[in-house]
Amino acid sequence: MLEDWRGNPVSTSREDTLAAIDRFSEQILSYGNGAGAILGAAEADPDGVLVNTLAAALCLFLEDGKSARNAEAFLTRAEAGLGAGASERERMLLAAVRSWAARDTARAQQIQEEIASAYPRDILSAKFGQYHAFNRGDLAGMLRIAEKVFAANTDLAYMHGMMAFGYEQNHRLQEAEAAGRRAVEIMPAEPWAHHAVAHVMETQGRVKEGIAWMEGHAPSWEGRNSFMLTHNYWHLALFYMDLDRHDAVLDLYDRRIWGVFKAYSQDQINAASLLWRLELRGVDVGERWADVSQHVARRGPEHVEPFHDLHYVYALARGGHDRELASLLQSMRASRPASPWRDVALPGAEGVVAHAKGDHAAAFRLLDPLRERWQEIGGSHAQRDLFIQTWLDAALRAGEGARVRPVLEQRLRDRPEIAVCRRWLERAA
Ligand SMILES: [Fe+2]
Repeated sequence: MLEDWRGNPVSTSREDTLAAIDRFSEQILSYGNGAGAILGAAEADPDGVLVNTLAAALCLFLEDGKSARNAEAFLTRAEAGLGAGASERERMLLAAVRSWAARDTARAQQIQEEIASAYPRDILSAKFGQYHAFNRGDLAGMLRIAEKVFAANTDLAYMHGMMAFGYEQNHRLQEAEAAGRRAVEIMPAEPWAHHAVAHVMETQGRVKEGIAWMEGHAPSWEGRNSFMLTHNYWHLALFYMDLDRHDAVLDLYDRRIWGVFKAYSQDQINAASLLWRLELRGVDVGERWADVSQHVARRGPEHVEPFHDLHYVYALARGGHDRELASLLQSMRASRPASPWRDVALPGAEGVVAHAKGDHAAAFRLLDPLRERWQEIGGSHAQRDLFIQTWLDAALRAGEGARVRPVLEQRLRDRPEIAVCRRWLERAA
């Protein structure tokens, strides 16, 4: 029995396996580009329970239709190795990843919370748990799991970054910003903390500060994985958008946001979300939908996360991939009969597709009942605001401006410096 970098016992006698586990942990927490090395380490140590469990987790983080199949071989090996003295923590983590592979992320999150209570030095497991809570729209859960492991990890910038995002999603903005800044004091290049503070500034309409914050940290994002790189630039682009600097947004899109890892879910989501937002503001995005939608079309129906599918259907609709769009919608109806798929994702998908196709009356009718329910499909407040904007745009174009006027007035009160908030209110009049 050896110990990992945080002092957690690992049931291995192999130093190379332990080094691979430590490296994977650091790479996941820092959104590095080197997490993939865990696959080779697992292949090299087929009896290693933890290394194979983590390799399975990496497959699942890719969030595509093949993820569970790719994870299976690693999970099977990890389960076969359980008899040879695996620790309780390793058993629990394997059970959590097994549930994740079976798409029972509620169960996965629950086990991860139990690990956080019993083994608070396992910050990597808590990171997995915060990811599940995020995808499930469980705001309280995002903060709760971070709090459980906080005292054991205050020396780590990553810990403060996790707290910052948990606070931010729970509308505790001052605490979020303080935690994010604490992380950056410990480790200036902590991209998740840059991200959490950007969320605070976005919510508070602190646009110029947000630009300075993100532009200042951007050089340190080189070498981060494509999700973190493209998503942090996506946040910078939102700030530019709020100053109506649309050319700067398109420039960032072309240079930084689309083109890093085009097959990856999160890259596609960041790209689609940005083009979608630009069009809601009346900006001509040229031919840019074509490439994004082509990559989305290659996925086929996967249904990994409802939040993802909402972006995929919009990209397919805007890119003219009608056959793939019909197939994805049909598959959502047939294969995901429970909530939130049935009650939020499916009518939401039909609503945003109606908007993408210019049927604004239908879009408003479909999206109006969902305006308080988007949290159920996961994603951050800032990301989900896209669905609210789409509902508002549909209302304005369908002649229902009076119905949404109070919402537009509130949005202007929340972010009084943002010109587009005023323009939308004028459209309602
Ligand atoms: Fe974000």
